[in-house]
Parts: sequence; structure tokens; C-alpha cells
Amino acid sequence: MDKPTDQSRMDRIVSLAKRRGFIFQSSEIYGGLNGFWDYGPLGVSLKRNLKECWWHDMVAGHDELSTPPGAPSSYEMAGLDCTIIMHPQVWKCSGHFDLFHDWLVDCRESKRRYRYDHLQGRWAAHRGKRVFVVTDQSGEEAAPHTVQKAQKFFGLRAKQVDEIEWDGGLVPLAAGVAAGTLALTTALGPDASEPGTLTDPREFNLMFETRIGALAGGDDDRAFLRPETAQGIFMNFKNVLDTSRVSVPFGIAQIGKSFRNEITPRNFTFRSREFEQMEIEFFCKPADSAAWYRYWRDRRWNWYLNLGLTAGKLQLREHGADELSHYSVGTADIEYAFPFLADGEFGELEGIAHRGDFDLRSHMEGKLVRRDGQLVVELGPDGKPRHRGSGKDLSYFDDATRERYVPHVIEPSAGADRAVLAFLCDAYHEDEVPDEDGKPRSRTVLKLHPRLAPLKAAILPLVKKDGMPEVAIDLYRRLKAHMPCMYDEKGSVGRRYARQDEAGTPWCLTIDGQTLTDKTVTLRDRDTLVQTRVPIEECVDLLRERLR
Ligand code: GAP
Repeated sequence: MDKPTDQSRMDRIVSLAKRRGFIFQSSEIYGGLNGFWDYGPLGVSLKRNLKECWWHDMVAGHDELSTPPGAPSSYEMAGLDCTIIMHPQVWKCSGHFDLFHDWLVDCRESKRRYRYDHLQGRWAAHRGKRVFVVTDQSGEEAAPHTVQKAQKFFGLRAKQVDEIEWDGGLVPLAAGVAAGTLALTTALGPDASEPGTLTDPREFNLMFETRIGALAGGDDDRAFLRPETAQGIFMNFKNVLDTSRVSVPFGIAQIGKSFRNEITPRNFTFRSREFEQMEIEFFCKPADSAAWYRYWRDRRWNWYLNLGLTAGKLQLREHGADELSHYSVGTADIEYAFPFLADGEFGELEGIAHRGDFDLRSHMEGKLVRRDGQLVVELGPDGKPRHRGSGKDLSYFDDATRERYVPHVIEPSAGADRAVLAFLCDAYHEDEVPDEDGKPRSRTVLKLHPRLAPLKAAILPLVKKDGMPEVAIDLYRRLKAHMPCMYDEKGSVGRRYARQDEAGTPWCLTIDGQTLTDKTVTLRDRDTLVQTRVPIEECVDLLRERLR
């Protein structure tokens, strides 16, 4: 059998996710809704475990009395859960109202809509006719798509595709247009039959809009679903400071839904329109901020590794100066080599940004812009602030040094859905195991870290008689008090192991004839397949210990 391509591997992961109840398309019985996904019984546990790991490791389990390795000092962490809809001024001062947009182009012929920066293409010629063939595909799919398009455009049969002359490789459409090497009038759109059907690019704000109140209508009722959880943290900076005993340096963490009206949601849950974020805003003294930035970048990188993501598939990428937002002092992305991307390409899991004092100042003074290297309040045509800030004092008074300053912010911002997808892709393996008769059988297994696995153990009576189910049910009830586990007596034991392997369950405990005589069970390890006999009375403590 050919080695599966990564795209077919991705297809298998998507199919497993559906088949085993991890992830479903939203509103599927009505044909689905693009960019929206539901988590099924196993998926909801996986995602909840991931969020609980994050919350435990970053907030609940944080020891504020000691200095973690690499940190400039000890620090405190606090949690928050704020609303999805906030005062519209929040988004005006944060910059999202004016700037949170993508460029889109429409196709007049196919009526399809594309993100301008997702389009790429290459020049094709045949018997004197020349066209710039555009694709909206990425990775391995892109080049074959342009071949198909060119073949159709030139009216060639499959065996004639070699007659097409290609001039250079794939280049971003936007770069070619900006450089003046091509015009949209010569571009053959991804779903068009003739060149020149793509419109000029235009801005599209990604915030979902809604209206507040029964008599909604005027501009005053206009509100937005939050496109990030971060702003809610800035809204509550002073509340947390005034009501808890935290002092700088400290972080506020929040997990919650965010919404972006993505032009082209794609790659399963990777780019969704509704998704969850796990964000920390870490407030520190300006002079220490570079050291805290490095601490959080390395801390978050190690978090993914400790939960089992393959080091070789992860990349830490510092942004170049041209990529930084106008307010950012430094940003690093933690990226993963998702199977839907071409070799050497990585997709963002989390960004760690040094945001300086941009956010707190914006919400004090009004929307800021950079002028001559300085952040200043943007003025409207009337000379007044374009978007007025709250006027509230969000500075911090340091009792120890008697200094007052606006804290700097380090922001580790992770996507829960992207992390789930990365852990699913990384855990997915196909291998061969011996069946009950010792013959090789292919299996699909999710090698999830036990902390992430939806079920920690399955308890299986070898047969449904001879008192084995009773012993197994008793063990199941005792274990269930400590961890999610399941009892399964249906089908051959080989099939039951296979079901648990696909669900990512790290351990199976089998009750057999020997259990009835010597009170031991077989403990099967999902990854090594090693089976050991363990006294039934020790099973609960043993698995609890392994989970720790
Ligand atoms: N507050 C900073 C912020 O929101 P971001 O890079 O736009 O930064 C942070 O988003 C993380 O949220 C990303 O690294 C990604 O994991 C996740 N994310 C962003 N847009 C997403 C989308 N459309 N679908 C799924 N996850 C998304």
C-alpha cells in the first residue's frame, strides 16, 4: 500500500473524529453551517480536559510563593469570566472596529468569495494563449488545482496537460498585483471559466454584529460578539486589582468563546467562525517586561511539549519587524505542522505578544496610533479623539518603590480548538497489532496524553458469564469515583480493545478466569501493548498514581 499523503491522513483524522463522536459539523441535518463545529461525547471530554490542564497549569495550580524556572520573580495569577457582548466603545478603543478586517475579493461569475491573501497563482501558456491561473487551495492541493483549471481553460484532454507551459511557480496574487507584474483582469479566478471575473479587493470587518434590546434599530443599539477574550480582561484590570490582593507582576486568565466572521473558514476546526480562546494578560513593570516576555514564550512552548506534542512538529517563530502590530514590542508564535499543510508549513496554535502599555492606555485615553515612533491618540477631522477612551485611571501605584506607572502587558493567547486539533492530529497513529490468534491486525490508535484522554480506562470482562461481569462492574464503580472510565462487555475482547484504542483510552483492565482464582486483572497499555497482571485491589491506586 502507498504511504498515505498527509491530506489523506487528514481525511482519516476527520473521519475518525466524526465516527467516534469527537467533532461533528454544526447543524448537520440541515446541510451544516460552514465554520461552525460541535463537539460530541468524546470530543467534549477531550476539549474540557485540555482547558482544565491549561487552567490548572496556568492558574489554579500556580504556586505564587515560589519563582518558577526562568521567571524573573514569583507572581500571582487570577481567573476571570466576562461577557461576550461588551460596550461597543471597547472595540473602538481597542482598534478592532477600525482595523480588524481581512481583504476579500468576489468572483462575479461564480459568486464565490475569497480571502485575498489566500489566493495564489501561476502563469500558464498554450499555443500563444496566456493566463494567470488562480487557486484558493493551499499546500499540496494548490498546484494540481491550477493544472486542472488550466486544462479546462485551454480545452485540453487529460493526456495533453504536458503541453501546458508554466512560467514560474505559485506566487501570492496580492504580491503580483502590488508589484504590478499582473492585473486582476488577466487572472482566471479559482471557480471561473474566463479571466477578469475577480473584483478589486475590499475590506471586510471580521466582527459579528448584533443589536441590543427589543426596539433595536439605531446606531446606539449596535453591538459586537467579542473577537477575542482579551479585551474583557483589560475591562476588569482595575476591578481585579481593587478586589483581590494581587500586585504587579500578576496575570489574569480567561477561557471563553470568541467569534470571527472568517471569509473562508477552512481546514476542519482550524479556522472557525466560533471558537474558544485561552488567554492570559500578564501585567508587569515596564523595565521587567522583556524578561517576562521570554519567560511566557518558553513556558507556553514547554506546556505543549509536556502534554505530548511531538517536538519535531512544533515550531517557535519570532515575528520579524514587518509582521509586528504597530504597538507590539515582540511577538512569537507557537506553530504546529498540521497534516493539511504542505511540507515545511506550520499553522499557528498560540501567539505570545509583548503589547507594551498599548491596551491599558487605549482604554484610558482613546484609540492609539503610532506617529513618529510614539503611540498617540488618533484624532478625527474635528481634532477630537477619533474614539474616546474611558477617562478612568488604569495606572498602578507600586507601594514598595513608591512609583506610579501603566503596567506593560505580555499576552499568551491560545486557541482551545486549534490545540485540540493539534493534539488529535499528533495522537493519530495507524499500526499493526496481533489479534487474539496472534495474526497481525491493523489498528487506528489515538496516543493521547493520559491527562487529555476522554476516558482513562475501560473495564472489560473477558466473557459475559462465570461471575466476571459482577467483578468487573464492582471495579468499574470503584474506579469511576476517581476518573472517567467505562464498562464494556459487548463483542470480542479484541474488538473492545480496538474501540478503546480509537477513543485514546490509555489503559484497559480485563477480568478473566484467572481473576476469579487469584484476584488479579490484566492491565493493557494502549501504546506499548504490554499486558501485566495487577492485583485487583491495587488497580485504583495504580491508575490514580499514573495519572498524577
Ligand atoms: N488576543 C490576541 C488574539 O486574539 P490571535 O492570534 O488573533 O490573537 C489567538 O488569536 C489564538 O486564537 C490563535 O493563535 C488561534 O489559536 C486562535 N484562533 C484565532 N482565530 C481563530 C479561528 N478563526 N478559528 C480557530 N481558532 C482561532
